Amino acid sequence: MTNCRSLRRFAALALLASSVLFSAMEDAEAQPAGFNYDESKVPAYTLPDPLTCLDGSKVADSKTWLTKRRPELLNLFAEHVQGRTPKGDVTVREEWVQHEPALNGLASRKQVRLSFERNGVKRHVDVLVYLPAKARGPVPAFIGLNFSGNHTVHADPGIILPTSWVQNDAKKGVTNNLASAQMRGESATRWQVEKVVGRGYAVVTAYYGDLFPDRADGMADSVIALFQKELSPSDWNAIGAWSWGLSRITDYLASSGDIDLKRLALHGHSRLGKAALWAGAQDQRFAMVISNDSGEGGAALARRWFGETTKRINTSFPHWFNGAFKQYNDNEAKMPVDQHELLALIAPRPLYVASATEDQWADPKGEFLAAYHAGAVYALFGKKGVGISEQPAPEKPVGDAVGYHLRVGKHDIAEYDWDRYLDFADRHFGKPSGK
Ligand code: GCU
Repeated sequence: MTNCRSLRRFAALALLASSVLFSAMEDAEAQPAGFNYDESKVPAYTLPDPLTCLDGSKVADSKTWLTKRRPELLNLFAEHVQGRTPKGDVTVREEWVQHEPALNGLASRKQVRLSFERNGVKRHVDVLVYLPAKARGPVPAFIGLNFSGNHTVHADPGIILPTSWVQNDAKKGVTNNLASAQMRGESATRWQVEKVVGRGYAVVTAYYGDLFPDRADGMADSVIALFQKELSPSDWNAIGAWSWGLSRITDYLASSGDIDLKRLALHGHSRLGKAALWAGAQDQRFAMVISNDSGEGGAALARRWFGETTKRINTSFPHWFNGAFKQYNDNEAKMPVDQHELLALIAPRPLYVASATEDQWADPKGEFLAAYHAGAVYALFGKKGVGISEQPAPEKPVGDAVGYHLRVGKHDIAEYDWDRYLDFADRHFGKPSGK
């Protein structure tokens, strides 16, 4: 009870501390001040070396990376940026499961509610899975969280609406923070379900608000409340909660037998790209990680002071990263890590970073450079990274174990992005059988 109250008090303080809260802000014009779009104002910076350990020794082989430097970096990110994910067990139940034919025979639609219980607190996440109808045995899959509810990823009327808090939007019929059927299929272009399933991959998704409602005072209603007895509120936050949820969904996928975990690609757009990178860094079951326009706190280098800055993100979204991260506002050079090292934590698994030309807020060049610098760690495994040191021209995809492209257009996930991700998955996983 006391802990619950302190969680609420922390959340209320975070709300006060946040000068502006933008919850579904996607376009650059709507962004708050405190950013830089002038390349000449980017100060000189020195990136921390992923291959130098805290004791000053150098990493020269993959074994030292895996046993010494990788755990060290994971720990630094947990302590200084995302917060520490608790290890404690949670009771997970499949509260209900539905499995029906869908998409005119192209797929079957599986929906399951995973309920979590711990310390007398209950939370849940509703998982939506489309399995290619022709699949025999476990299939490769793309897994990612969605922004507005499972029903927004496709107009399919069989998709169950979320019951947890959603952002109000009167124009789209969302009032009283309750999901509305009017939003069915709203984000369909971002998911390309028929295309992905048609290429032989399952689509797995869940609403991120089931795990942590995306508002400054969302913590008390989030899965973090399951752990309230062990943790102080600044230990982990929304990005940590979203990535924790991705791992729990993966536990379910592992037990369901539907999915071939060796070919499980995790993707995320924007804030959910930040969460995908953190989930992929911690949980090596994600066999491939795709960061779409993830920007500040995601793939973009923090020290390259362009687009959104550390102070800006911590002010607008105080509930995303941990308390310690706030000390790097206007102070990025003091961070013991930078984002190329978060990307390097995915190695040797295939990694794809994508940017968009009109998404200056996310700093496309900083995203490319982080992908480039992660290559030093892939090289330890004899793998090639993006292959070039200059950002490529728009729509000229590059890379081997680390893929990169700069799409023409705005902050979004478009069909162009999906075509690249599917080709990348085919290349690294092998084409799904029958394709
Ligand atoms: C805001 C935020 C970004 C974030 C984006 C999104 O623009 O500043 O850091 O990536 O929202 O999630 O759409």
